[in-house]
Amino acid sequence: MSKQETKVNKIRDFHHESIANREEFWRREAERIHWDEPFTRVLDDSRPPFARWYVGGRTNLCYNAVDRWLPQYADRAALVWVSTEVDQERVYTRRQLYDEVNAAAAMLRGLGVERGDRVLLYMPMVPEAVFTMLACARIGAVHSVVFGGFASVNLAQRIDDAAPKVVVSADGGSRAGKVQAYKPLLDKALGLCAKPPQSVVIFDRGLAPFEAVAGRDLDYAELRREHWGRQVPIAWLESSEPSYVLYTSGTTGRPKGVQRDTGGYAVALAASMEYVFGGKPGDTYFCTSDIGWVVGHSYIVYGPLIAGQTTVLYEGTPVRPDGAILWQLVERFRVNALFSSPTAVRVLKRQDPALLKRHDLSSLHTVYLAGEPLDEPTARWLSDGLGKPVIDNYWQTESGWPILSAQPGVERTPARFGSPSFPTYGFDVRVVSETTGEDLPAGQKGVVAIVPPLPPGAMSTIWGDDARFVQTYFTSIPGRQYYSTFDWGRVDADGYWFILGRTDDVINVAGHRLGTREIEESISSHAGVAECAVVGVADELKGQVAMAFVVLKQAAPVDDPDAARALEGDIMRLVEQQLGAVARPALVRFVGALPKTRSGKVLRRAIVAVCEKRDPGDLTTIEDPSALEQIKESLQ
Ligand code: PRX
Repeated sequence: MSKQETKVNKIRDFHHESIANREEFWRREAERIHWDEPFTRVLDDSRPPFARWYVGGRTNLCYNAVDRWLPQYADRAALVWVSTEVDQERVYTRRQLYDEVNAAAAMLRGLGVERGDRVLLYMPMVPEAVFTMLACARIGAVHSVVFGGFASVNLAQRIDDAAPKVVVSADGGSRAGKVQAYKPLLDKALGLCAKPPQSVVIFDRGLAPFEAVAGRDLDYAELRREHWGRQVPIAWLESSEPSYVLYTSGTTGRPKGVQRDTGGYAVALAASMEYVFGGKPGDTYFCTSDIGWVVGHSYIVYGPLIAGQTTVLYEGTPVRPDGAILWQLVERFRVNALFSSPTAVRVLKRQDPALLKRHDLSSLHTVYLAGEPLDEPTARWLSDGLGKPVIDNYWQTESGWPILSAQPGVERTPARFGSPSFPTYGFDVRVVSETTGEDLPAGQKGVVAIVPPLPPGAMSTIWGDDARFVQTYFTSIPGRQYYSTFDWGRVDADGYWFILGRTDDVINVAGHRLGTREIEESISSHAGVAECAVVGVADELKGQVAMAFVVLKQAAPVDDPDAARALEGDIMRLVEQQLGAVARPALVRFVGALPKTRSGKVLRRAIVAVCEKRDPGDLTTIEDPSALEQIKESLQ
């Protein structure tokens, strides 16, 4: 047997053990965290597909992230904040982090937030966002962080669904040197809400002047002063009590609140920091995601801190002040593992390759990329340019941590570019037939599905809607109650996995997961629009971009090019105002009809094919072939 095969076998054995001896495996892993009271059962899956991990155990995410490491690392950096947007830096030791989190927790308690209450954060990448998240965890409040790039309609939907007692926000953020005012969007969202929260706390950065609403809006700095020095006791939660809700898009226009537990999540993250991310306590970890996404929750905030590491929080882009900024930060803070996105690397690829060599990267062992497909040339460019391993990892908001990845903490395995390697321990992943639900042999494309129980750290349900959780995720594979990832996949003869795009209408723009249905609903709210179809089209830089095809209420499509351009601009602005700039379509075109089947279903795959200049394939079900021709013409 070759050396290479032996290595792959070790990972396979590890994975096999995690499934075959599930409870022993996770019992052992649970020792990584502190339990105030031990659990009585590792797993309760008596009500499939629900799974409760570490039944009866009591723990707390904030305690494991902050307090637990005080004796060892009180004076060592826990949180490093760098903003190239406002040219500021702050370093917090564990002790200082402890003080800030306690002040924030006291502030929330002072506003009447109790265990189980929700707190919504709409914040830029500032340390106060991390303090507030940890403060929620400390007192057992459930946080719901909304990505700062989202706008009022998205925000209002999330406020209404989670019904937070308090919203914590900021005057504004900054992106590529441009101030983004948050407060007006928040005010607009609160105006749209059925039951707005009692209190709004604003962290005023002095970026975007705003009007405070008397009796509702409070000042973060003032509250911090008021509560400084307080110590807030830990709320020891039963393992399955929720830690947070994070909304994500699917097929419908209504985002789903992915609910995460407490104990299972802490264990899963702690284990992944070693097995997947090859780290140990005292390391420094730098993840360039945003706290508004799952990657930010797991690998900016909780994962590194729970594992006793230093985490780097970065507000800025990968190319300002220049394309070496990420490497400069790696050098300065002696970063051991870097986690970023394929889009960020494709952006860097357009810069001078010499920038990769300008800094001392000797501390860095591996670069991790996730969130969207990693194309082979991009992976190769980075890996060759840095002379470091690049690991592609595949997962979802729902899973909370990687489903497929190389696992250098188990064993270094050879990379196969274009593949996120192998299933991680705990995930019983299969490629199954869309029509029969049966496992497919190597080489065949099918749906990537997971046999329940989902491992610790994966979503426990949809916030407030158990039935929707089951219906959404566990009913689409014929004949089997499997979890569907809604991704296509394939395994090669050597056991390397490949992800081949979504089976549903979710698109991925620069690593941002968006629902086309949500964008369609936004466009349809324009008075002149009769109907529309939004699709994700391949893009060299962003992976995908959204393109919108619109049928207007007036019979003829817009013939006058100026009028068409003006209307296109109106629609783009509307989406930007309602959902945020990330959701803004790259292109809007007007057509007389949408290509549909005789039963009225829009032929999205055919539209995408035409947009990508591919053969649209079988069109026998199309009602009006000229509709597809119109799409083709509209693109010329
Ligand atoms: O389609 C897959 C794609 O992103 C989706 C999940 O997005 P989100 O919920 O935002 O979570 C991102 C967590 C990293 C998946 O269903 N995706 C994510 N990672 C990869 C990927 N597609 C291909 N390769 C990946 N490594």
